[in-house]
Amino acid sequence: VQVLNRVPVIWINLQDCAGNSEAFLRTDGPTVDELILEIISLEFHELLMAPSGEHAEQQLENAMTTFKNEYLLFVEGAIPTAENGIYGTIGTSGETYVDHLVRLSADAKAIVAVGTCATFGGIPAAAPNPTGARGVMDIVSNKPIVNIPACPANPANMLGVILLYAMTGELPELDSLLRPKFAFGYRIHDACERRVHFDAGEYVEEWGDASAQAGHCLYKMGCKGPVTFNNCPTVKYNRGTSWPVAAGHGCIGCSEPGFFDKFDRFEAPTPFNPN
Ligand code: SF4
Ligand code: F3S
Repeated sequence: VQVLNRVPVIWINLQDCAGNSEAFLRTDGPTVDELILEIISLEFHELLMAPSGEHAEQQLENAMTTFKNEYLLFVEGAIPTAENGIYGTIGTSGETYVDHLVRLSADAKAIVAVGTCATFGGIPAAAPNPTGARGVMDIVSNKPIVNIPACPANPANMLGVILLYAMTGELPELDSLLRPKFAFGYRIHDACERRVHFDAGEYVEEWGDASAQAGHCLYKMGCKGPVTFNNCPTVKYNRGTSWPVAAGHGCIGCSEPGFFDKFDRFEAPTPFNPN
């Protein structure tokens, strides 16, 4: 990969489970070590850096100064806004996540929100959302934002954004929800390997029945592929090994706005009732 310059990256974890960081470690083509050593300059990442405590805080400040208006700010996790943000604080100063995000965003070139929590609030924002969890675009309005939802975000889609920026200095074309069109321009349902069975009216009716064993469509078991936009069927997870529908479960719409509440029951979506 020919890069213009190694892209400085600051990655912060807020109200999250670090699942997107775990996914990031499983990139391939390039692998995460090629990525970190040759393509980006990972200046701060709590999971992947050696310093801790005050040394880590100092590293963050140094990186912000050295790469002011150059760094990509990756944000993982939602932002708790209730009670003046007291449900999430960080560092020895006790800075709230809201203030932390706003301060780091101010000197960033652009922001990449990874995972459904950072993009749309995700599981922390599920009802009754006691912490007032929100996504990055609800807090920051003065910087370019790229949203890469899913739980976790597919590392292939993170790589796509990083490599495009490293090679061209450009961010990808986005849709109205700030998602890259290259990844979120298509419905799961339209690229699904079980679609032929949907069209033929062959559905799994009960977990483990003959249709399940034959790999038939999971629509009647609540698959949300018809109303979910993502490239899971083509890119897959775990280095192209599998994805939810291939594993026999169906899509639960983890990358859609409103996940988790919107899709909290495993029912077939009524607008697409095949009967
Ligand atoms: Fe695939 Fe789900 Fe669509 Fe069936 S309903 S074809 S399993 S995406
Ligand atoms: Fe999520 Fe559905 Fe893909 S559950 S990982 S958007 S198949």
